[in-house]
Amino acid sequence: MMYPEVRLRRLRQNERMRELVAETKLNADQFILPIFFDETISKEKTTASMPGVRTFPLKDYDSIASGIQGNGVNNVLVFGVPAKKDAVGSGAYAKDGVVQKAIEGLKENSDMLVISDLCLCEYTDHGHCGVLDDCGYVMNDETIELYAKTAVSQADAGADIIAPSGMMDGQISAIRAALDDAGHKNVPIMAYSAKFYSAYYGPFRDVANSAPGKGNRAGYQMQCGNRKEAMREIEFDIAEGADMIMVKPAGPYLDIIRDAANTFDLPLAAYQVSGEYSMIEAAAANGWIDHDRVMMESLLGIKRAGADMIITYFAEEAAKLL
Ligand code: PBG
Ligand code: ZN
Repeated sequence: MMYPEVRLRRLRQNERMRELVAETKLNADQFILPIFFDETISKEKTTASMPGVRTFPLKDYDSIASGIQGNGVNNVLVFGVPAKKDAVGSGAYAKDGVVQKAIEGLKENSDMLVISDLCLCEYTDHGHCGVLDDCGYVMNDETIELYAKTAVSQADAGADIIAPSGMMDGQISAIRAALDDAGHKNVPIMAYSAKFYSAYYGPFRDVANSAPGKGNRAGYQMQCGNRKEAMREIEFDIAEGADMIMVKPAGPYLDIIRDAANTFDLPLAAYQVSGEYSMIEAAAANGWIDHDRVMMESLLGIKRAGADMIITYFAEEAAKLL
């Protein structure tokens, strides 16, 4: 049967009919809001390249959390901006480090799910995600030992989930072993498995002050065109003990999200990164696009591609519209 007996427009004729046959729906329970804490500030601040994204001081956790939860978002991904940086990123695994304090503050003052980003780039003076040898090469095996220490310090502070984003080989097994040794058997790992060497991270690096001084991250993040390799990265992370996997960025990598959803059974996260957010904000501020509709469409596309969870700076705004 075909037209004229069949008319696909029959199921589009009104709002209720359309809702009834909607194949993809967004759910704020699966949004994760990235938030930043800066130990050098005493009042919250914003960054020009990420309008609407606030960086918080290490206080007022109660009101920060109730603001976010009041908007319908209960999951956060925490990043820290430290006062001091050094060659080995020691602020990342300091007991009283910025992110450890922020995690503690949030856990003590709210019932939010607190996911902790784990990397060294915000804490190293050279801005790389690991420690360097004399030639400026990021040393893999030395770095994952520091990731393991960082994971334990974050779990000690009360993090519900550890999310390593540095793209070192073997990082998941190193972190899993260290967490288990330290008695954190029940703390899951959300692996930034397929994280690409993307230009879309630019605005984030303004907020987190984490751009590499010399060189770039192409030696550890994935090449943008590599699909098969993305599946290998995910496969390895699963074999090493990841509880959840991630594709990052999201919008320009929907095919990778779909491949991952078809291939693996683990909960799949997608990270709609800073550049994706800022482009929509900038175009909307110019009146060139409808902010809310483009925001929701960008998220729906990520979900339709197969993501379960979406990490997005739009989490609160989108949750309010749902
Ligand atoms: C740290 C980290 C980065 C992002 C998340 N974790 C920056 C980077 O890899 O340079 C980017 C997030 C974004 O752009 O929103 N490794
Ligand atoms: Zn990093």
